[in-house]
Amino acid sequence: MNHNDRDAGVMRIYEQLVEIEQRLIPTGLHVFGRPAELKEKADLLRMVASFDRPEFGALALPELIAEALGINSYDSLLQETSASETKDLIHSIVGESVRQFCHGGSDSAAKWLSAKANVEVQKSLPVFLLLANIAEQLDSNHEIDSLLRSLRGEYIEPGPGADIVQNPQVLPTGRNTHAVNPYSVPSQLAFTRAKLTTDALLRRHFEEHGRYPRAMALVLWGLDNIKTQGEGVAQALHLLGVRPVRDALNRATEIEVIPLEELKRPRMDLVMTVSGIFRDLFAPTMALLDKAVRRVAALDEPLEMNYVRRNVFEKIDGDGGGFDDAVARVFSNAPGSYGTNVNFMVMESQWETSDALGDLFVTRKCFAYTRDSKGQTIEGREARELMDQALSRVEATYQNIDSFEVGITDVDHYFEYLGGISKAVEKRAQARPAIYLSDSLSPQTRIRSLEETIRLETRTKTLNPKWYEGMLRIYTDIAKTFLLDPSMFARLQELNPYSVRSLTKRLLEAHDRGYWNPDEEILEKLREAIENLGKINSVIGPTFERKT
Ligand code: BEZ
Ligand code: MG
Repeated sequence: MNHNDRDAGVMRIYEQLVEIEQRLIPTGLHVFGRPAELKEKADLLRMVASFDRPEFGALALPELIAEALGINSYDSLLQETSASETKDLIHSIVGESVRQFCHGGSDSAAKWLSAKANVEVQKSLPVFLLLANIAEQLDSNHEIDSLLRSLRGEYIEPGPGADIVQNPQVLPTGRNTHAVNPYSVPSQLAFTRAKLTTDALLRRHFEEHGRYPRAMALVLWGLDNIKTQGEGVAQALHLLGVRPVRDALNRATEIEVIPLEELKRPRMDLVMTVSGIFRDLFAPTMALLDKAVRRVAALDEPLEMNYVRRNVFEKIDGDGGGFDDAVARVFSNAPGSYGTNVNFMVMESQWETSDALGDLFVTRKCFAYTRDSKGQTIEGREARELMDQALSRVEATYQNIDSFEVGITDVDHYFEYLGGISKAVEKRAQARPAIYLSDSLSPQTRIRSLEETIRLETRTKTLNPKWYEGMLRIYTDIAKTFLLDPSMFARLQELNPYSVRSLTKRLLEAHDRGYWNPDEEILEKLREAIENLGKINSVIGPTFERKT
């Protein structure tokens, strides 16, 4: 290895370490009614301060600091791997200024930043005033009060549903979360951000495969699109090469085609599988996506620049079917039905070959939401063959991740959806698709492969003491509160012996699987409890077998 190769290798390792170090992770679960602790608050505020907040007249702190240090553009700095020392310096100044803020308030933080990094007080003060507002609201937790009021049938003030970092106006918590107006989706900000993400996604695929995918499969979720005001939807529109247009009532009900000269790449063909929640919340958006596909398919453009048209024509030429069948691209469950059930199949170990997982996904999701030849809306027509055909052309699958709170290794829903569709594609296209996820939680969106995402999450969560200690505290608290306090234990056993047994089993399982390592005394008591509870086993099935 020569010096240059060695230096480049060290730099790559360094970049990966920084990525792991800077990733925001939740430590433990939110405890209802309990305000954030200082450390958690500081992490959140640092993250909030890393975004431009034009609505509050505040610029991102890293940019203000970069500017004051005479660095031209923080954005371009981020793209350069070689400028790590400068990046480190900026991040440490941001972190320290937020710590100053937490201890001394806005004025003192702004003065510190001026003395330390030459950032003008009048520029940094709006950021710290925003942080002060957020910090105060993080401290005032109305969750229990609101719960009690709602139980008394009183009115609970509404508040937007979003991620704290993306929209601090979700605070204070303990309000009646309302979703979004589906007609407002996607927002201008979502559409702007989506361009960066989809450019990066297509660039990555091109670099790895030497061409764009023949077709892509996207997973769209409801809650995610609420939180981001439709970033996932905006990404789909960008990939197709269209933009939303608002009508006289400011509703995004129309689309406008982005000319190929401006797009500078082919229009992508997409198979969109949406969750039941998305279908229920975003009916106008489903119609918008369907409209966009139809419009793009009908454009008089060279087939090599319009993959929707190319695939639609190929299908019509192949089977003589009609245009309306050939453009069906928005799929979900049957009306009134939710989920893929792939997660249950996995958890119950009810599968032999992984084809069964993909087949189940299609069985559940093969309902087309589209229009007929007369323009009538069709809400969920079973169209298994159409979905099979559409998936057989797919070469890349993709889902947008937009929350630092829940990652793909935390809940079963990512593998039921992105895993389910990827397996369905693998069988139908007879090749494993490239599987990508975006990370749109940080100011710079990033595309990662499935493998990279799992590696990063495992390093920053599963294997990170900061994360698992937070989780483990919860196991111990649960054991102490419900199982090891004799009077509570007796009460629960009286009320619901099944639930006590299940809770005890789960804790012992957590220990046996190596997730929880409490004192031997606690374990002994739990084992004793399971033995006593064993008397009701015959009624409710076998106890969890502990490995020795
Ligand atoms: C959704 O927001 O659409 C969703 C949430 C959890 C699981 C699946 C879908
Ligand atoms: Mg669930």
